Amino acid sequence: MDNNFQIKTFEEYQQAYQQSVDNPEAFWESIADTFTWRKKWDKTLEWNFEEPSIKWFQGGKLNITENCLDRHLKTRGNKLAIIWEPNDPKERYIRFTYKEVYERVCQFANVLKKNGVQKGDRVCIYMPMIPELAFAVLACARIGAVHSVIFAGFSASAMADRINDAGAKMILTSDGLNRGSKQIPVKRVVDEALEHCPSVEKVIVVERLGWAVNMVEGRDVWYHDEVKDVSKECPAEEMDAEDMLFILYTSGSTGKPKGVVHTCGGYMVSAQYTFSNVFQYQESDIYWCTADVGWVTGHTYLLYGPLLSGATTLMFEGVPTYPDMGRFWQVVDKFGVTIFYTAPTAIRALMAGDIDDVLSYSLDSLKVLGSVGEPINEEAWHWYHTHVGKERCPLVDTWWQTETGGIMISTLAGVTPMKPAHATLPLPGIQPILVNSDGSEITENEVEGHLCIKFPWPGMIRTTYGDHERARLSYFSTYKNLYFTGDGAKRDKDGLYRIIGRVDDVINVSGHRFGTAEIEEAINHNEHVIESAVVGYPHDVKGQGIYAFVICKDIPEREDWLRAEIIETVVEKIGKIAKPDKIQIVSGLPKTRSGKIMRRILRKIAEGDTSNLGDTSTLLDPDVVDEIKEGAL
Ligand code: WTA
Repeated sequence: MDNNFQIKTFEEYQQAYQQSVDNPEAFWESIADTFTWRKKWDKTLEWNFEEPSIKWFQGGKLNITENCLDRHLKTRGNKLAIIWEPNDPKERYIRFTYKEVYERVCQFANVLKKNGVQKGDRVCIYMPMIPELAFAVLACARIGAVHSVIFAGFSASAMADRINDAGAKMILTSDGLNRGSKQIPVKRVVDEALEHCPSVEKVIVVERLGWAVNMVEGRDVWYHDEVKDVSKECPAEEMDAEDMLFILYTSGSTGKPKGVVHTCGGYMVSAQYTFSNVFQYQESDIYWCTADVGWVTGHTYLLYGPLLSGATTLMFEGVPTYPDMGRFWQVVDKFGVTIFYTAPTAIRALMAGDIDDVLSYSLDSLKVLGSVGEPINEEAWHWYHTHVGKERCPLVDTWWQTETGGIMISTLAGVTPMKPAHATLPLPGIQPILVNSDGSEITENEVEGHLCIKFPWPGMIRTTYGDHERARLSYFSTYKNLYFTGDGAKRDKDGLYRIIGRVDDVINVSGHRFGTAEIEEAINHNEHVIESAVVGYPHDVKGQGIYAFVICKDIPEREDWLRAEIIETVVEKIGKIAKPDKIQIVSGLPKTRSGKIMRRILRKIAEGDTSNLGDTSTLLDPDVVDEIKEGAL
């Protein structure tokens, strides 16, 4: 039943692609038909990129968890659904069959209901990579609550912003978490956030470390107490195809992170279609995506895509470098992982280690490798392909975004061509184009332009939560009738795409997206700071590093102290993941007469390329550039 839309040859790819362009509705209908719907949809697609308004499978009724779990019970009830590998290799792993995941999800769903969650309520999840995180996400979906997972590395302040924007009624969390050699008091961070979150009525705490934590009477309950007397059955709520499934916050070029909204029907169809085709998933595969469920990759390719396909998905609590640099490869060998999907930043970090940390593992089980989250440079591509894939495994470089819901441009493993550092060809159903800055389409090859998508696909963003205008402005207003990705891309002579990176004020640090404005705002909170400007610069491991130029009120004798202070402020406002790598204290910033910071100049200085700064004649105070150049770090 499940895989009959899997493309097996390049000719089939070409046919499917052509069909998807000639008749997108018929194309997606045939895929959607393979899912379990309580009621078939009335209208396949209605769209308008001006407003924007995008509706797929209108009138269709379903529950995504019936497709992830219930429909597999007959044929795959005893098949492994989730293998959980803990942070510490000495702790025992846990395996869950489809039947067991089904029961755990139903139990969790009943706990949510018992604590007052109803269809449409928003539930924020701030949890480590433990099995309960997977159950929690699916439990929300089961009862029609909207999940909004917040990566457990965000600070209390960043969490509070997201909770308030979503108007969440409940928080699901844990006592603490393990990350490598560290243990982090998660519940304490939640308590701090909740001092500023009036909408939250209940907090459910899962025990991970066995720590004694502060429990607020009437608000906080332990999951293990609540789950004792609930049933292992929970009927799935009937959802409309266009009902919200989840909100996931991500950074844009302006203002605070925005809540990207995905809906039940279209997201489901995209998730399984892309998972099955890109990785060429087979029934016996052991699949491992190393992303955290706090990011979109964890949503679509650790949970939904694999479970929709009836796959065995591995969930790893730890980090690639603990207890040593061979940890990923040890886990691959331990479970016989066949498909491995990770981020370039992890590959680059491991490349820096001893080659024997890879070569001492067999890695024989591997069939397909994947990369996601940022451009993969050729050196990393070759290292990954040669030393991990033994030149035998196709390597798929998958380009997509939180907003796209699923993979958009990628090699289909072993089916369509691959080329180092190239995402290559669009998936069937996806119509990318390159445009000039005036919005005109570039039709020839061997060109570079802004990457846009000209036709809707089922998994695409529907709105930004609570602020539809923001979605319009961010994605649909730059170029008329196009979805603008924010990325620049090249197309080679054979029509293969290479993603270059963001063309807006978004930077990508270890595969994590930040708006430069968001980091500046955090820095400006520091009492010593008057103004700041943040740009990205090439970083060997992280892809991009964060370079901050900061004007301070008073320069103390020890600039180091000031820098540490500023970093502390960023950690408090956003989290450790947004720590600036370099902070240069300056007396002024290069501004135009109208007061706009010329970031182009700062970017060049941060890149160490000061020979040609371009035209600086429009600057208010050209001398400041020389000062910044001299003090560059
Ligand atoms: C970048 C992650 C080059 C890109 C799934 C995009 C990539 C942003 C690739 C989205 C890739 C993602 N090659 N760049 N294969 N994949 N990107 O929302 O700039 O966290 O716009 O989604 O990451 O990041 P997000």
